[in-house]
Amino acid sequence: MKATAIAPANIAFIKFWGKKDASLRLPYNPSISMNVSGCTTTTTVEFSKNFSSDSVSEGFNERRILDHIDRLRKIAGSKEKVKVITKNNFPRSAGIASSASGFAALTVAAAAALGLKLSEKELSTLARLGSGSACRSIPDGFVKWEGEYARSLYPPDYWDIRDVLVIVDTKTKKISSSEGHDRAETSPYFKKRLGHMPGRIARIEEALETKNFRLFGEVIEEECLDMHHVMQTQTPPLYYWSDQTTRVIKKVKSSGIPAYFTIDAGPNVHVLCEAKDEKRVMELFKNYKIIVNKPARGAYIL
Ligand code: PMV
Repeated sequence: MKATAIAPANIAFIKFWGKKDASLRLPYNPSISMNVSGCTTTTTVEFSKNFSSDSVSEGFNERRILDHIDRLRKIAGSKEKVKVITKNNFPRSAGIASSASGFAALTVAAAAALGLKLSEKELSTLARLGSGSACRSIPDGFVKWEGEYARSLYPPDYWDIRDVLVIVDTKTKKISSSEGHDRAETSPYFKKRLGHMPGRIARIEEALETKNFRLFGEVIEEECLDMHHVMQTQTPPLYYWSDQTTRVIKKVKSSGIPAYFTIDAGPNVHVLCEAKDEKRVMELFKNYKIIVNKPARGAYIL
């Protein structure tokens, strides 16, 4: 059987960094994100007894994808070989969470192709085993991942904000976030970060609930700098920023526009603003390649 799914990438406002249980990809702290409309993965999964071997689109991490397929095959009790065709509409491995949209789309497409009827919670739990942040690309809109799975806090149309993604580099990163997580505890600041978490999460939840954009912006910038501080002080240090990253941050902060930055595992900068300021932010970065994102629904079958 064959099925196609589409899943969005997501941008983390409260980040997942460090795994309490590495093999189960369980996080030390809850994380909160928004699905992004302009960065999606489309994946077609087909199982057939006529295939003599498994195959995956070229250029993707075949081992990791087939390990995930095996998890689903096991649940379905299937031994059929698979063909996975996957396509991103944005640059891969540049810290734009391609593993999130990738494993969310793969999970939803493979479950459907195997005839499994899984709940959103079950799909999110499974997607997490492929890539942690993928569990947040299953539910709609604004999402919280706590423990084994993620759930929607608010639908996409709850708050009309924009994520203007400023792309400064599309080269594949040398160290994947998967490996980086495993070294998080080596930073002397990691414990401190976890200590700040409950308060920071309470503040972002208040900002979302009251649609207080200024509070929201202050918290996401604080959180972004905190996570990158931990990354940069790990052993070995993980330095994802480039000169351009700093330039973009400075440009945002000196513009006078109520816009705020956050950065995942790469050099590219997500600039968050309210819909009314979208044009001004786009103008600010007219010499850069940008992707303008709205809050989006989670993964779905095409
Ligand atoms: O899900 P992973 O292993 O790709 O880790 C994601 C890590 C960050 O993007 C840096 C933070 C996050 O919560 O998305």
